[in-house]
Amino acid sequence: VPGSKAFSDPLSVVAAEMTNLTNNIRNLLGSAHPNLDSAAKYYVQSQGKHIRPLLVLLMSRAVLSAPKSDNHDKRYNVDESISPLDILRDFNPTNIISSIATTVSRSPTAATGEQTVEEETGIFPSQRRLAEITEMIHAASLLHDDVIDDAELRRGNPSGNSAFGNKMAILAGDFLLGRASVALARLRNAEVTELISTVIANLVEGEVMQLKNTAPEDAITGVATPATFDYYLEKTYLKTASLISKSCRSAAVLAGAREDIVENAYQYGRNLGMAFQLVDDLLDYTVTESELGKPAGADLQLGLATGPALFAWKHYPELGPMIRRKFSQPGDVEKARKLVSESDGVEKTRQLAKDYSDNARNAVAGFPESTAKDALIDMTVTVLNRKK
Ligand code: FPP
Ligand code: MG
Ligand code: MG
Repeated sequence: VPGSKAFSDPLSVVAAEMTNLTNNIRNLLGSAHPNLDSAAKYYVQSQGKHIRPLLVLLMSRAVLSAPKSDNHDKRYNVDESISPLDILRDFNPTNIISSIATTVSRSPTAATGEQTVEEETGIFPSQRRLAEITEMIHAASLLHDDVIDDAELRRGNPSGNSAFGNKMAILAGDFLLGRASVALARLRNAEVTELISTVIANLVEGEVMQLKNTAPEDAITGVATPATFDYYLEKTYLKTASLISKSCRSAAVLAGAREDIVENAYQYGRNLGMAFQLVDDLLDYTVTESELGKPAGADLQLGLATGPALFAWKHYPELGPMIRRKFSQPGDVEKARKLVSESDGVEKTRQLAKDYSDNARNAVAGFPESTAKDALIDMTVTVLNRKK
């Protein structure tokens, strides 16, 4: 293939960091309550695809030799010597404050406030921690999502709610967010804190838009309109692409990259995230449960009209009433599935995902040549071809 590179696996570019990821996160998650401990760590295990941390690490390396901003503020190392657990076990607030202060001053490079990049990997400790934070937030959102969706399976195993019950699954998700917030605060970077905190709000907004399902205008017009697709794409950004885009942006911010590089990192994540979710939505129609590791055809059952159904609606107006009543009447799900399969809905969704994937590739085209940049480009192809 012209232009193909010697390596084939983006994972191999940041293999060392990815190997430690799960263990590092588990170290941030310990609780003295055994039940909470297991529930919080349940989705932090090797079966995950770890797409978000992988992208953060690749982006971190890819921007390493890109132009720097001349007025970026001082950044601190992440201190490995005290885990949030050690601090939080100590319930005396004065001690909490003094041990946080110690954390910073104990840092080997705290005198200058500059962090040192790890020699062989080209990744800052703060960026490695950012990768862990993104996976913790993702795991929290999955625990809550599986309660909302009443899911029994995730990655071929019982879901968190099946294993621990709804109450523990919700609390474990909240606990993950709390620990992720502590780790985020310790990056001592206000811009990154703001970006990642916004993601948490965005995930909730996306989920609420999904509960409402379609644009308010659709109820009046009864046909698929541009507003139908605007609503769907905004929801898709909020529920999936916000985490990927804002964490890619944060990786570039932590590198002290110039503003145009930071913006390109964001655009890469936004477009790749959109492609990722659009493919997720079409796989729900094209792949079986055993291939997916979770129920296939779940979206219609949940009352959700995603890309394939919305594109099909353009040609089959009879889908309108079914979409509005969330496929709740007997036979709706089967009828809708048949109409979607007779339409070009899946193909149109795939084409849209391809457009986003091309945009992601273009966003990093101007980055300095590196294996990490090649791997980011590789991911724009992988995201389209994935089967689960
Ligand atoms: C998976 O979607 C779910 C998300 C991408 C986000 C879910 C967000 C919330 C539940 C809001 C709460 C957020 C936090 C941070 C606690 P899906 O159901 O389409 O995918 P699936 O098939 O993998 O279940
Ligand atoms: Mg779900
Ligand atoms: Mg869901």
